[in-house]
Amino acid sequence: MLTMNEVMELLANRGQGHVVDAAMRRPPSDRLRYCDTVLGIDLEGLLDSLDAAILAQPKPSPRSMATPDCVDLENDHLDPSFVEAREVGEAMLARGEVACILVAGGQGTRLGWSGPKGTFPIGPVSDRSLFQLFAESILALQRRFGQSIPWGIMTGGQNHVATAQFFTTNDYFGLSPNTVRLFQQGAVPTFDSGGKIILDHAGEIMGAPDGHGGVFRAMEKADIFAWFGESGAKHVFYFQVDNPLCVVADPVFLGIHAERRAEMSTKVVSKRSATERVGVVAVVDGTLRVIEYLEIPSSVSQLRESDGKLTFRAANTGIHAFSIEFMEYVARSHRLPYHVTKKQLPGSMEINGATVDGWKAEQFVFDALPMARHPSVVHVSRKREFSPVKSSNGQDSPEEAREALCEHYRSMLRSSGVRLSEKAREQPIEISPVVAVDEIDLRRLNLQTLDIDGPIILTHDSFKFSTSEKHPTTSAPFSNPARLTSES
Ligand code: UD1
Repeated sequence: MLTMNEVMELLANRGQGHVVDAAMRRPPSDRLRYCDTVLGIDLEGLLDSLDAAILAQPKPSPRSMATPDCVDLENDHLDPSFVEAREVGEAMLARGEVACILVAGGQGTRLGWSGPKGTFPIGPVSDRSLFQLFAESILALQRRFGQSIPWGIMTGGQNHVATAQFFTTNDYFGLSPNTVRLFQQGAVPTFDSGGKIILDHAGEIMGAPDGHGGVFRAMEKADIFAWFGESGAKHVFYFQVDNPLCVVADPVFLGIHAERRAEMSTKVVSKRSATERVGVVAVVDGTLRVIEYLEIPSSVSQLRESDGKLTFRAANTGIHAFSIEFMEYVARSHRLPYHVTKKQLPGSMEINGATVDGWKAEQFVFDALPMARHPSVVHVSRKREFSPVKSSNGQDSPEEAREALCEHYRSMLRSSGVRLSEKAREQPIEISPVVAVDEIDLRRLNLQTLDIDGPIILTHDSFKFSTSEKHPTTSAPFSNPARLTSES
């Protein structure tokens, strides 16, 4: 990493002399703090990316692109050929080799929600928050495998305190607080439309979140690698806060990742339309990578196979598995590129009361894929595993995600041999992950029929089944939760 003097020299040589002047006006004891957003990052890479963005980066052409090789689990997650992968993944969990990382920076503004996105109520019957849903899944896996699963949650400057309070107020949803650590992502400078680093009215460098690719550096800074290492973890299951259907620490996915000795694995689903705002996994000039939706030329996204399917349909779900060794390597290599885009900078970055149009730089976690010598891609069922909440209505809305959750719970019940009466099939339904994370748990309950005319919830109260539950996160109590009947 560059020293303070080297950073100052680089800034002066790259047209950012105003930052050097501002730094020099500070007392020497304050200079290190002042330069926090330009020290410890790949500043040269950032300035190069900025120059390239100003010149407009070329997009990949269809001729340089090919579709990736995927392990195909799209049609049957319980396919017997993957029993072995499941066993490998379960053994990893039973040996305590798995840790989880959730990226949860940002607010739920696009959902019309004022708090951190993870506090958004998503349970179709209980209004369970996204955080509670994930916490309960981890709790259930800890109980099933008798091992603790350390869980790191990356927050942003805007939502860190509120996220910490949410976990404390809700007693970590039953998890031991020792197994959960919140850590904050970093910031990078913002640039005005002429490419100069923006200083605010107090002369401070105006930073913006560094993107989820900042996770590697943030983990290193917060000693998360050391914590995972002490707990015996060797692999990380990484996921995004906005997808309630995510199968947390999915043993099949982890098993495939380990069997293939992959440093990084990624889950994809079929893209639903040429214009869907998802990144696409593709091979570009012989290297596997994700091309973000803003960077895919429409001539590429519209390409179709003879059967009508989109050619480049492997949509990035934001779910990955990493070996911890590889994550540490990425953290130290400082090789993740910056994606620089022109945006109206957030309100907090107003100058003299006016919002500023400028350049914002972010790193993306999936840009680690080209650094992996043995990456793997697993294609899973969208219906079963992907329904992100991104906007308040229409596609990717909470309504769509709640329906997808209900359908998933119904399907879990059906495939574990439970008969749903016609009335029950029409009801909103929810299964707490603590009761069952999957069909395997459900089969053990030996339920036979659900014949209920009202919202259905399978939940726990002191580990007994109950028709009511404490809803630490709910503001609107659900009405008439119906009795769970079992003919066992
Ligand atoms: C993202 C992916 C896209 C993928 C889609 C799937 C990027 C750039 N694109 O799009 O390829 O198909 O998800 O849903 O990520 N986050 C942070 N800090 C940040 C920025 C984001 O923690 O600085 C977290 C968010 O809390 C969220 C996740 O990263 O959990 C994704 O971020 P978001 O900006 O919502 O990505 P999308 O544009 O939806």
